[in-house]
Amino acid sequence: MNRWIFLLATATLAAQSGYFRDIRPILQKQCQGCHQPANKMSDLDVTSYDAFKKGGKRGTAIATVVKYLTGETQPRMPLGSPELAAADIAKFREWIAAGAKDDSPVESSSSQPIVYLQPPVITALRWSPDGSQLAVNGNREVIVHSSDGKRILHRLAGKAERILSISYSPKGDLLAAGGGTPAQFGEVQLWDPRNGKFLRSATLTNDTVFGAAVSPDGSKVSVGAADNTVHMIDTATGKELFKNSNHEGWVLGTVFGIDSKRFVTVSRDRAAKLTDSNTGAFLENVNLLRGELTAVTRHPKKDVVAIGTEDRYAFVYMMDRPRNMKIADDTTLIHKIDRQDGAITSMDWSSDGSRIAIAGLSPVVNLYNADTGKLASQCKGHSAGIYSVAFSPDGKQLATGGFDGMVRVYNAATCQLQLTFSPVPLSHGNPTGAGQ
Ligand code: HEC
Repeated sequence: MNRWIFLLATATLAAQSGYFRDIRPILQKQCQGCHQPANKMSDLDVTSYDAFKKGGKRGTAIATVVKYLTGETQPRMPLGSPELAAADIAKFREWIAAGAKDDSPVESSSSQPIVYLQPPVITALRWSPDGSQLAVNGNREVIVHSSDGKRILHRLAGKAERILSISYSPKGDLLAAGGGTPAQFGEVQLWDPRNGKFLRSATLTNDTVFGAAVSPDGSKVSVGAADNTVHMIDTATGKELFKNSNHEGWVLGTVFGIDSKRFVTVSRDRAAKLTDSNTGAFLENVNLLRGELTAVTRHPKKDVVAIGTEDRYAFVYMMDRPRNMKIADDTTLIHKIDRQDGAITSMDWSSDGSRIAIAGLSPVVNLYNADTGKLASQCKGHSAGIYSVAFSPDGKQLATGGFDGMVRVYNAATCQLQLTFSPVPLSHGNPTGAGQ
């Protein structure tokens, strides 16, 4: 749906062979398995126009590709598969003869504002550490609002079609946005949220990434992925410090320990793993958990984590288990929290440590007393599932967003609804860009 709205807004209907419509689908289907960031045969990555243009060991693929497809240069591509249909090879020829332009809406999004006919599903929302901003995902962008919801401060439009996680550095000088374009690439974008300036990005996998978290010291960003990998990015350079494959399912959440030296990852493989943030070495499992793990948050001052599951339970665990602890010993479990009315999607711990907010596929956010594990209050008002929940830095407010596309801000003590707003500027009727 969102994609179509976007295409309507930006399409230039070319009759000739075009990259987005003709070339890209062939590359995705026939070539990407061997030519992608994680498996870059002959140094060639075909998952984006820029990477394809850059080419491999023998230079830009725009110059080499037709010869490889016809077999004039050996080995013929796609290696190990039947040769492409003559009509498909002709599409490459025609596209190259016409200048090998990038006509994909991904690229054109950077030069013109994205148009919305309806609010997109909210998958990520975070407050800046000084409480002045509320950053919310749009389509292909992060929209930074003043926290009263009255003004858009910055629109951070990047390449990724979806932004699934947002994290600020504690100093407020960096915003990391994690996401990607499904079945194409995963990306972590780094922005300066004070002026809206794009700093750098890292393309990581051939599918979206999840649960981006900036380390407390601001030096790193951890992120999980749909190919079961975990990645660590250096914020100063955007370079990948390491990746590991210790999980056996999608890695949906990551969080650092207090000293930034270790981090916890949670996965659909039902494991929560503690890992060294400098080397990527596996340290230990965060003990006995049940169900696919979907969300994680940390106590603001202690190495204690709350973990949520797809089968609706949340657990509060000490991050470290004593070395001599036996298997099946559950002494690091602090609380098991009541079953929720829907799968858990997002959790946040208030900055004074007193409350844990749990959101999920039910339209109610439950707030728990973090000391007792008992329900403290319930914030209502959403009509459908909630995918992101965040306490304001002073702990007085709670922001939520989800399927209905509206940001809601509650008084975190009483759950009284204070503010509801659409995070995107809505354009009515005319899909060509007027009305912004
Ligand atoms: C099974 C793996 C595989 C598939 C699938 C595959 N390639 Fe390749 N590709 C390779 C390998 C290996 C090389 C290096 C060949 C050599 O030089 O010996 C290569 C090299 C290339 C090069 C030259 C890169 C350079 O500059 O060195 C191009 C261009 C290329 N492939 C295009 C494609 C296209 C287009 C497709 C899809 C239609 C495709 N490949 C599918 C494995 C693959």
